Amino acid sequence: MIFQVEPQVTKNDIKAVSDYMNSGGWLTEHKFTNEFENKISNYLGRKYAIAVPNGTIAIYLALMSLGIKKGDRVAVPNITMIATINAILWIGAEPVLIDVDEDFCMSINHFKKIKNLKAAIFVPLNGRIGNGELIEKWCKKNQIKLIEDSAHSLGTKYKNFNAGNLGDLSILSFTPHKIITTGQGGMILTNNQKLAKNIKKLKSFNRRAGKSDWHDGFGLNFKFTDLQAALGLSQLARLEENITTKRKIYQYYKKHIDNDFFAINEFEENEVPWFLDVLTKNSNVRNKLHEYLIKNNIETRFSYPALSKQKFLKEYKNKNLDFSESTHNKILWLPSSLGLKNNELKIICDKLNKFRI
Ligand SMILES: Cc1ncc(COP(=O)(O)O)c(C=O)c1O
Repeated sequence: MIFQVEPQVTKNDIKAVSDYMNSGGWLTEHKFTNEFENKISNYLGRKYAIAVPNGTIAIYLALMSLGIKKGDRVAVPNITMIATINAILWIGAEPVLIDVDEDFCMSINHFKKIKNLKAAIFVPLNGRIGNGELIEKWCKKNQIKLIEDSAHSLGTKYKNFNAGNLGDLSILSFTPHKIITTGQGGMILTNNQKLAKNIKKLKSFNRRAGKSDWHDGFGLNFKFTDLQAALGLSQLARLEENITTKRKIYQYYKKHIDNDFFAINEFEENEVPWFLDVLTKNSNVRNKLHEYLIKNNIETRFSYPALSKQKFLKEYKNKNLDFSESTHNKILWLPSSLGLKNNELKIICDKLNKFRI
């Protein structure tokens, strides 16, 4: 079976974790975590990077640090992974679903029509930047706090800066299917010293400096571990290589896929493809293509359903979600692992091109 995505673990990764285990370190966050944070912050060009257990908690803490609370309205694109909206619900705020454009990112035109927003979360979905910069401009002008959920987009660039730099805060995720992984893991990025300080305290029981057991208010334990950071540092050392690999996979599909039932969704040169995706003619084609490929030992995955189609979110549905609601079920994610070999890509494209219904 060729899987849709698999983590890539190298000998260097194994050595890094094993060296750390042999070093007598205390496992929880300390020097390795600091180094991992510093390297990510230097790579992206953002002043502060704070490691947390996962991307969902990163969004939650980002919202919390901005003072988003019960009843505040927070815009979210109608196509994104469930964590983006669940973090908003977790904080008690009210999600406002916004339709997406053809690049599957939040639509600037729809966004501009929405009143009374406290915050917005822009998602450069699948490594595509959409109109993120225009959304940032609008947010600044209208005093809307902006979080960039950059879980898919480490390596992608906007016009003049890296993804991970948009808005007041950005977040990353390091689950096994991301471009680098720490098993689970997340990072919050900001240039704002006050927000960074606040988040560092919130993730560590809101503890006063030193080893004090006096606390300045509510706080939980969202610390990282040096054990994960050892893996993260080793993975980060080949980020550029991974970016090149993702681009090569994309170029291969782009060059070889030829079938009237679907087409590869394009990426710009500054974008790093995360999952390679095709847009099929309709949901029936998408479903049949998925089944056909499984029969041929090729795993694919359906893209996220529109949030407004999730039953548990039905109270947030609105009338302006036509594009996302009519497109979400036509997108199929193709095999996109960093370890894909050329002969596997050839098999996948051969099978894709022979598909008919
Ligand atoms: C767009 C997006 N945001 C947030 C998350 C949540 O990250 P995590 O799984 O690390 O909690 C994910 C996870 O894949 C994601 O795809």
